Parts: sequence; structure tokens; C-alpha cells
Amino acid sequence: MPQLRPIDLRCEHLATAHGLNSPIPRFGWGLEGDGQNQRQTAYRIVVAETGNGRIFWDSGKILSNNTQLVPYAGEPLSSDAVLDWTVQVWDEADRLGATASPARIFTGLKSDDWQAEWIARYFVLPAGREVPADNAYDNRWQARPADYLRRSFASADSPVRATLYVTALGLYEAYLNGQRIGDHVIAPGWTDYHRRVEYQVHDVTALVQAGDNVLGAILGEGWYSGRVGHNQRRAGNHYGGRPALFCQLHLHYADGSNMIVASDEHWQTRQGPICYSDFLMGEMYDARLELQDWATAPGVQVGWQPAEVFTPDPRAPKLDAARAQPAREVARLPAQFSHLATNGAAIFDLGQNIAGYCELTVEASAGARFTLRHGEVLDGDGELYVANLRHAVATDIFIAAGNGEETFKPRFTFHGFRYVELTLPEGVSPEAITLTGIAIQTDTPITGEIETGHPLVNQLLSNIFWSQRDNFLSVPTDCPQRDERYGWSADAQVFWKTAGYFADVSAFLTKWMLDLEDGQSPDGAFPDVAPTKPLNPYRLTPQPGAPAWGDAPIIMAWDHWLRYGDRDFLVRFYPSFQAWMEHIGRPNPDFIRRNAVYNNYGDWLSVGPASDRTLVATAYWHRVADLMARMANALGHATDSAAYNQLARSIARAFCAEYLDQSGRLTGDTQTAYLLALDFNLLPEAMRPAATKRLVELIDAAGGHLQTGFLGVRHICPVLSENGAADLAVDLLLKDTYPSWGFSIRQGATTIWERWDGWTPDKGFQSVNMNSFNHYAYGAVGEWIWSRIAGIDWCEQGPGYRELRLRPLFDSRIGHCRASYRAHTGIVSSHWVMHGDTVEWRVSIPPNCAAVIELPPGWLSKEHSDRLGAGTYDLRLCKSANG
Ligand code: BGC
Repeated sequence: MPQLRPIDLRCEHLATAHGLNSPIPRFGWGLEGDGQNQRQTAYRIVVAETGNGRIFWDSGKILSNNTQLVPYAGEPLSSDAVLDWTVQVWDEADRLGATASPARIFTGLKSDDWQAEWIARYFVLPAGREVPADNAYDNRWQARPADYLRRSFASADSPVRATLYVTALGLYEAYLNGQRIGDHVIAPGWTDYHRRVEYQVHDVTALVQAGDNVLGAILGEGWYSGRVGHNQRRAGNHYGGRPALFCQLHLHYADGSNMIVASDEHWQTRQGPICYSDFLMGEMYDARLELQDWATAPGVQVGWQPAEVFTPDPRAPKLDAARAQPAREVARLPAQFSHLATNGAAIFDLGQNIAGYCELTVEASAGARFTLRHGEVLDGDGELYVANLRHAVATDIFIAAGNGEETFKPRFTFHGFRYVELTLPEGVSPEAITLTGIAIQTDTPITGEIETGHPLVNQLLSNIFWSQRDNFLSVPTDCPQRDERYGWSADAQVFWKTAGYFADVSAFLTKWMLDLEDGQSPDGAFPDVAPTKPLNPYRLTPQPGAPAWGDAPIIMAWDHWLRYGDRDFLVRFYPSFQAWMEHIGRPNPDFIRRNAVYNNYGDWLSVGPASDRTLVATAYWHRVADLMARMANALGHATDSAAYNQLARSIARAFCAEYLDQSGRLTGDTQTAYLLALDFNLLPEAMRPAATKRLVELIDAAGGHLQTGFLGVRHICPVLSENGAADLAVDLLLKDTYPSWGFSIRQGATTIWERWDGWTPDKGFQSVNMNSFNHYAYGAVGEWIWSRIAGIDWCEQGPGYRELRLRPLFDSRIGHCRASYRAHTGIVSSHWVMHGDTVEWRVSIPPNCAAVIELPPGWLSKEHSDRLGAGTYDLRLCKSANG
């Protein structure tokens, strides 16, 4: 008998919630089933304490088809609790579905549960990082040694439950009795540490023993005090001068008693084998300096100094539970020895550009030095090319202790690289070592699998996904390699829809939207980058948002709504969005966005003629006004919605009066101008054909190439296919001459380049000032491959994939497409294969959902209906007589 099966249980968008920031967490699940038109008609949620089964909430059987974001309605949740929750569902015939395996929730700590104090090594760097007097730093940028902290404590018994709540200003790794706690990297992640820091929750029950125990931590600099960005006059110390630890270990015993071990004056600290460690600089590890038993030996240790308890400057940050998945090691890539560079060093190749670091396994004598330099590409002579890293030194150094096989892997740095130049000590051959690349990323669950019949499209999809992984590191960054690595907002907004297919980014954005809001100025300006640094390279206040950059929060919030249907998210951020709208509206009374445009970047990194920046800015203003009208409408704010609609109309009128001539030409006459005007609906209906015609002419005039920058690129294929030129969209997708996605692939790219001409045969490398080979913005074409080639798209009528659109484009050059997307509501799939004039198309729609079916013009299906309910369907399509 067909059964409904709840899958992917989520609390606050997470498979396991490690700490709650709200007394009313929300629950959601997807559904799987076997039959057609299956529906959920009722659910029951049960939340019980782990271990003793005490029920906190039993919703009872609720007659509802809702599966998303159901608010908790049980007894008030206590802090420091561990809960398991599960859901039962009933189908349309009131049959009980399969039992879901329970999901876990750690409730976390509330603000008044904290007894811990901030502790650090008693040591302050000189401001501005002049070379320190004690010459402790054997490196160009004076990155500092990592601090080790420890304390021992006695536990009367083995606890029945032990939970560690831990965070740092800087980066930390925590240890209990010599065991590394958890598998997070670069924790606690990046926030504006002057306002907020996120803490992590670890179940350490198995690590605590009766008797003596040692709790320890290693602290690195990270975003807090290490180098971030490119301003050499203010390279580091952005939030503070020294890393600090904050933690609380809660022990619960069988007899009902509890004990807390917190960071306080009882801790000891010293430096160890990590001579320095910095995101941009790299890490140096001298294994001869290893601290024996530092995290296992009980009692007070000699040679260690007491930790200092202090209040971070300018104030202790607010402590939030982590809202997103942590960063983790997600892939291991064996490095192949390629050749020797002219300096004699060995060049290794991972075959893939990644963000992460290497693990090196060697056997060498004491003091033998291994130097690893990282780069994305090789130059024409096969030498490591690092000029594009700017000030990032990206070099790790390992000094062997000389006691047999040793393994080194840095802790508090990462690099963007595919190639490693390894300088080996005398007598060690490249064949004698094992080198493995380790990719790290915020561990957003993978949701999309897609494959086509065209190798270039498949490589492009792989490059897009890798650029996403490499740049989703606590925040969505522009690039992982050079001295930048900021959360640039326009890069993210153009890419967000693409990102959401490949991975579940709901929790990731929930966290980052707060960073964007934290960076908003009192008069409503969103920043260009988030988190902002308080001492920003350009000015002393957060940098205000340029058009398309400052507009990003609204655009991404709308994507988030359509993909996940999270209404509370819109409610939460709506006032900040209104403040932004006022910020840009006030100084522009004639509805052309000439003022408050700050670093008006325009269609960043386009090639060919540049688009008029005021035109682009105004088009974006219209876009956000239109989205605000829709958002207000979704929230039931009718007056606001009408006002934003009115604003959008006024902008469109002013736009046409200012930029559109009688013949349908736009000022500047660039591809991006037409793309934005068409996609954002700025033109009168009657003018759209002329604008489309002109767009096609401009592409033809460019030899059938695109010329768009970051802002235009998202729209080019969608606008063409929406306006009757799908063939041309596929042409662009498959092009491999400059400029195109395929061009970079032909040059061997394994990630998306920042610039179309990052390297060309006639000009070689682009300017060293800005030439990353791992920027995802141009990868924004991914959304079109997913939504139009595979044909899986969201639907404004049923946000959160309650309803969806299935609307593939069949193209013989692509041959077939097989895609499956794990929506929050369930798994959607689309698989088509073309055989001459016929197509076999199999689609799956999750229980409870319905899909609007849109066939490409000229295609017919006998079984065709415009709307399908849940189930799997095999459709056979053929070209219509006049198709
Ligand atoms: C970054 C971006 C960003 C841009 C703003 C660059 O340096 O790498 O990707 O959006 O600046 O213009």
C-alpha cells in the first residue's frame, strides 16, 4: 500500500539544531510517497527529552496539509536540554504514514545561563603590528603564534550527559582529554564580533571520565585579529588585538547533580608548535615544539602562565547559537606530483581548484623544513602563478620533529588553490611524500544533482558548484584566494537562486542576513560587504551599499521566500528593507537613481561597451520596489504594497522617459541595459519586441557572444528564452570562444573565473590587481540550466515549493538532462531524453505538491495536462505539425 514517508526533518532549517535563538522553534519536513496525488491531511509532532522520554510537546493529530515551519507550541523549553522530535503524517485516506527517524535538538543556553568569562593569553600586540620587539614572528606580516589554553577538573563520576558550549573571538579548536571535540573548522565563523558571536554546542558525554579530566583549546586569529582584506595600512586587528576563548562545559550526573566548568581565571595558557597562523599569510608548524600531554595531563602545568580574564573591547558581544551548519572538511583530493619548478620545488596538482589546505605525510629528520605555496594556476613555464593573490602569502611551513611518520595539516588558515609548490628538504623526493588537498566549506546540505548530454555543460555545472563550495565559508565570499574574501553582496544576490539548487542555503542565509543587517547604517544603508569590518578599508563606518549591492538583501530575501516559504524571515527583516527603500528613495525625487549610489560599480566586469551606471542603478531600484510590493502583499500589508507598486510605476515611467527612445533603443545600447529593462519589466509591453530584437542584434554584433558583467549575466539566458530566443540562449551556453563560460573551460578552468578574460592566448593573464579564478558571480547561469534546461522552477503562487513549475527546453545539442532537486517539501525530478522529434520526459512531484507544466513552444503531449499532482509521470512528447 502506498505510504507517505516524512523525510529531511528540520528544526529552524537544520537537520540538528545546535542551540535555539527563539523560544518558539519551527519544524518542517519533506514527504516521499509512491502513489499519485498523495497528500498529507494531518500531522502529529512529538518533542521529548532524550534519555528520559519526558514529553515537552505532543501536538496531537492536527488536521493540516502543512509540512513547513510549524511553530513549537509545547511547554517552555529549558536551556541546556537535549530533545528528540519526530513527526507522524496521515495521507488523503487517513492512513498513517511511515515513522520518521527522530531528529535532535540541543536547546542551548540563554543569556543568563552564562557564567563563563572571556579569557586570553596575557599579551597584547602593538597597534598596527610593527615588528614586535621580541622578534617572535618569523614572517612578513607578523602573524602571531596560536595560543594554547587548558584547565584540568575532577569529575566525581562519569556523567550521564555532558555538553560543551564554546566560542571564541578568533578561531578555536577544543579538546577534551586529548580528543579533538567535533569536526568544525574555522569555528565560530565570521560575524561582526563587536556585536555578535555565535557559539557551538557539542555533545561530549563520551569524552568525560570519572576522575581527572583536561579541557583545552587552541586559538587562532581568523577574522578577529588576523589579516582580512587588502588594505596594508590596516591589515589585521580589525576587531581586537588578541584571540579569546569563552566556554562552558555542563556535566549532568545520574544522581541529578550538575557541574559547570567554565572559562575563567583557573585556566592556563602558553604558545606551542603553531608559530603563526593567519588566513592570508598561512600557517607555520614546528613539530619540535609540540606540547606533550597538554590536553591530558591533570593539575597545574609548569611553563604555562595564568590566562587573563578580560572584557573585550568595546563591549562583550552578544552570544547567539549558531544559525547555520558549521564549516567542515568536505572532500579529500589526492595531489599528483606533476614536475619540478625551476627553483627545484615540486609542483603538485589537485586537478580541482578548491578552498582549503593540504595534509602532508612525511618521514624526515628533526628540523627538516617543508614549504607549501599555494596557487590557482601555473604560468606558461609551469611555475606557480601567485601574482593574483596580491598580499596573500598563502604559504604553510612544516618543520618535522623527526620521529617517524608525521602528518601536518594547518588549523587556522585556508587557501584558494589547485596547485601546490612544495619545497622539500634535501634528500626527500616528491615520490616519498603523501599530499592530499582538503576542501572545506560551510556544510550546507547538497540538494541538487544534475547531468546533461553535453560535456561542456556538465563541466560548467561542476565549475559552478565548486565555486559555490569554495566560497561558502561562514559567509558567501567573493573569492577564497587573494587578500579579499569578503561577503560581497551583489556577487551573492546574482548567484543566490543558482546556489539554492545545489545546496540547502536556508540556514546559511538566515545567519548572513543578520550580518547584512548588522552592517546597516542608522540611516538605512545596507553595506556592500557583510560582515563589515568596523575599521573598513575605505572609511571608518560601514561602507554603504552601491546599487545592486545594497539592494541584495531584498533580492535574496525574495529568493528565500520563493524557495523556502519562510514568512517569519520576511516579517523579521521587512523593517530593515523599508529603511533601505527610504534611504535610496529620499535623495532621488525624480525617480532616477542618481544620488546615494556610493561606489556605483555598475555592471561590474562586463566586456565591450559599459552600461550607463545610472540606468543600471535605476533599473535595480525598480526591481527592489517591485519585490517590496510583492513582499508587502505576501505579508498582508496592502497599503505598503500599493505604495511600492506606485513607486515601481513611477520609476518605470521615469526610466523610459530618460533612457528609451522612440525606436526602442536604450541609452548606452548595451546587452545589460536591455536585459535589465526586459527582465525587471521596465518597458511598456509594446516596446518589448523591439528591445528583444535589439538585444539579439547586439549579441550578433559581438560575434554571437555575451558581453555582460556580474549584473547582466544572471539575466541573459532567461531573458532570451522568455522572449522567443531560446536557441540563442543555448548557443551562448555552448559557446567556447571568448567571451563565454566555455572559453574558460577550454583553458582548463575547474571553477568560475572572476573575469571573462582572466587569461587569453593573446594577452595572457589579466591585471594582477584583480584576477581571481574562483568567483561564482558569472556562474549565475546555473539557475537557468536548472530552471529551463532541467525545467525545475519555483512558483510565486505556492512559495516554498508547495507549488512548482516544470518547464524544460528541449534542445538536440544538449540531448538529455537528468536532474533532481531536494526541495524542503520533497524531491522533485525531471529527466528528459530527446530522440529526433520526440522526447521522453519523466517527472516526479512530491506528495502534497502540484506542478504547473509548461511545454516549450511547438511541443505536444498526448497525456499532457497543464497541472499535475504528486507522483511520477512518463510523458511522451512530439513536435507539433507547425512546430
Ligand atoms: C570583489 C567583488 C566585488 C567587487 C565590487 C571586488 O574586489 O572581488 O567580487 O563585488 O569588488 O566592485
